[in-house]
Amino acid sequence: MFLAVVGALGWSVARALPPPGASKTLQGLAAARGLRWGTAVTNAQLQNPDLRRLVTSQSGLIVPESELKWDGVEAAPGRFDFSAPDRLLAFAREHGLAMRGHTLLWHEQLPAWVRALPAAELDKALATYIGTVVGHYRGQLPSWDVVNEPIADDGTGLRRTLWLERLGPDYIARALTLAHQADPKAALVINEYGLEGDDAKTARKRQAFLKLLRQLRDRGVPLDAVGLQAHLYANGSGPTTFRTLPAFLRELAALNLDIYVTELDVNDRELPAAIPERDRDVAAVYSAFLAAVLPEPRLRLITSWGLSDRTTWLNSFFPRADGLPQRPLPFDENSQAKPATAAIMAALSKP
Ligand code: G3I
Repeated sequence: MFLAVVGALGWSVARALPPPGASKTLQGLAAARGLRWGTAVTNAQLQNPDLRRLVTSQSGLIVPESELKWDGVEAAPGRFDFSAPDRLLAFAREHGLAMRGHTLLWHEQLPAWVRALPAAELDKALATYIGTVVGHYRGQLPSWDVVNEPIADDGTGLRRTLWLERLGPDYIARALTLAHQADPKAALVINEYGLEGDDAKTARKRQAFLKLLRQLRDRGVPLDAVGLQAHLYANGSGPTTFRTLPAFLRELAALNLDIYVTELDVNDRELPAAIPERDRDVAAVYSAFLAAVLPEPRLRLITSWGLSDRTTWLNSFFPRADGLPQRPLPFDENSQAKPATAAIMAALSKP
């Protein structure tokens, strides 16, 4: 009977059915509401069988945490090396996961030779880079973070980077147009942090971001989605709130943009050492954030910046003063469930 149904519906439908028990995973629960759950990974992390299992069992999408940044892909002019990101793509394929591209134009992880270029050569290098990299993966990555972190932290406008200083504000439209030419079907994304909270600094940054997005829309520049990185904080001085976030998401949606949460984690640096309290507060931030974003109809995917506390970038970039490892991700350092896991699963399970 089952085979007859499969035969009648076609193989693609049968393959889309989740494996038994999959609904109790982040990806299973996300998929039930039309979303995808993703995670950032590196090749090094995937050497660990425990982490591999966690990634393949919990996510439907991976994003290279560092392997698709310019300093690795084109360390010397014209010498492109796709071996590291290609390995990740092979892993994704082997396990039926999608892979997103991250990131084409950023002011960090740039090779020194790019930083040294004068304007005309910089523009040429950008065109070669985007054409070659997006071309290499044409038709294979559903979306690209084309421009990463373009807004100044004080919200006064565009971030002062070599891109802005040498190419002028049009560098953003240029990068998006180049990416669109190289892979017209890939969804193109501007990815930004510091847009989630309720404070005045966030409000200013949102206005600068919206201004940029409106200018791009008015000029007909190809852009499909915005990425909210969502590097969140549990600050211990009171509940972290996201009261203003739903209205901001509506403003983004009104520009006909999809919304991706691209780098979700919760920094626990300011919290006391005791693990139960820390885990409780981190879980509460996940709950509050997901309650604010999940009702938004244009939300398409949620990607955490790693799945296990073992792999978080925060221990090297924002170490705790007491030297204890941070616990910012959905699962603990042994890939076991913790309060954050339950909070995320509960939020995803809510109708
Ligand atoms: O590849 C070298 C390796 O050869 C060397 O032995 C090692 C020694 O430190 O460094 C390795 O490079 C590191 C790289 O991660 C790969 O692990 C860099 O030093 C380190 O700076 C780099 O950090 C990454 C950072 O972006 C800069 O690219 C973090 O892992 C990654 O989590 C972080 O991700 C960013 C997003 O792309 C954008 N949004 C913010 C987010 C967090 O900073």
